[in-house]
Amino acid sequence: MTPQEESVFMDTKQFYETHGQEQVFRFWEELGEQQRASLLEQAAEIDLEEVDRLVANLLRNEGGEAKIDFSTLKPAPYLPIPEDIESDPAWQEALTLGEDALRAGKVAAFTVAGGQGTRLGYDGPKGTFPVTPIKGKTLFQVFAEKIQAGRLKYQATIPWYVMTSHINHEATVSFFEENDYFGLGSDSVRFFRQGRMPAVDFEGRIILEGKDRIAMSPDGHGGALRALERSGSLQEMQDAGVEVISYFQVDNPLVRPIDPHFIGFHLKSGSTMSSKMLPKAYEKEKLGHFCLQGDKTVIVEYSDMPDELCAARDADGQLSFRAGSIAIHIISLSFARSLASDSSVSALPFHRADKKVPFVDEAGATQKPEQPNGVKFEMFVFDAIPFATSPLVLETTRLDDFSPVKNAEGIDSPESSRKDQVSLFRSWLEAAGVTLPSDFAGQVEISPLYASTREDFLKAWKSAPRELDLSGDIFIG
Ligand code: UD1
Repeated sequence: MTPQEESVFMDTKQFYETHGQEQVFRFWEELGEQQRASLLEQAAEIDLEEVDRLVANLLRNEGGEAKIDFSTLKPAPYLPIPEDIESDPAWQEALTLGEDALRAGKVAAFTVAGGQGTRLGYDGPKGTFPVTPIKGKTLFQVFAEKIQAGRLKYQATIPWYVMTSHINHEATVSFFEENDYFGLGSDSVRFFRQGRMPAVDFEGRIILEGKDRIAMSPDGHGGALRALERSGSLQEMQDAGVEVISYFQVDNPLVRPIDPHFIGFHLKSGSTMSSKMLPKAYEKEKLGHFCLQGDKTVIVEYSDMPDELCAARDADGQLSFRAGSIAIHIISLSFARSLASDSSVSALPFHRADKKVPFVDEAGATQKPEQPNGVKFEMFVFDAIPFATSPLVLETTRLDDFSPVKNAEGIDSPESSRKDQVSLFRSWLEAAGVTLPSDFAGQVEISPLYASTREDFLKAWKSAPRELDLSGDIFIG
């Protein structure tokens, strides 16, 4: 090491010692030049004061962290979806506003794709997972085609931002390169990495997962706001005239990334962060709950909601806290910027997640624990809602917007999602007057490039109906 490097190390080590984190350098003497440089780089990335604060609040419960008061929690109001959108003046007005905004280039699409997809058991960025029933298109391809359809329909460059993490960034970008950006053009798809946080043990000590590696993990999708700002994406959007960001998760092939009604309602209501909701299908469905705490709209995560509130029912028998979040939002650019840059509100709270974190033992070997041994810290994007002006919650229907791929099997699995996609496409065909045989057992898939909404499908079909072979799978592209 040069004397200069030696002095950087001494300063860093001392700083870590004052924060009780000297164990991070316990294998220093055994490390080679490159390993030392890498460890120092990781150490420099960590905000130790932030770690101290989180350990005090979330591990030692030393207060400061705003807690939910369940005794005063109320269900949040939402705008219900009418039977017939087409004859509803408010929905038609929203449609016009949303379409105008799209034509004027005021909308950007944004996907959070930094998660690890552990539950799905898929080794690779989740967006590269094949999901459609016949063609096996990947999640990324489905979104790309829906965005492309929006671009063609509204004659606008709808830029697409994709947040990755240090774990999947390279693999994600390579996937888009290999697929020629699905025809979107590389200059209109932008990738940036979210931040990361160190994992700590239950005493608050930063965990080493290798002799020269700190256990670091993505800082949650709430990290999107600071990562959007840090990467220059928000400035870039502003320069391009974008005013609203259409936010969605990577796991949901039914999402409509370009939904003019939703955009229109957001603009019309003066909301700065709007959300789509679905009535929960059953009490313990794993959806965040839209609630009111005082006059603030908040989402209480399914894992935090007490059983009795999940089960509470109105006089008419409906679940009281039925408004489930499907993690689809419209966020005003100005709001995102204010959250990311104004330190008085930028600090979205961190949540604690106890996890099995691989660690290095005294002999320097990496061990995989059987039980949770550490804590990861994550921010949630929906914690921005209480800071928003007039946050709007809009009802949607399940088939039109939500059938995520989260688990390897059962609920929210590839199989259940394929089934839902087929049900949606069948309903479009039936609305167009195509009657499938009662014993039809095939798959149905409609490419977003043919039509990505029911209305567009009916229009396209009416202008050029096709002869279909109804004896097997039906693909319309
Ligand atoms: C999430 C929501 C839940 C909502 C449900 C709807 C949270 C904490 N909960 O649950 O309220 O009802 O979706 O489907 O989000 N991600 C990142 N970076 C990260 C972590 C996650 O980009 O650091 C992305 C993932 O790639 C994924 C999404 O965020 O697209 C959801 O993350 P996940 O942790 O799987 O949340 P869920 O438990 O599915």
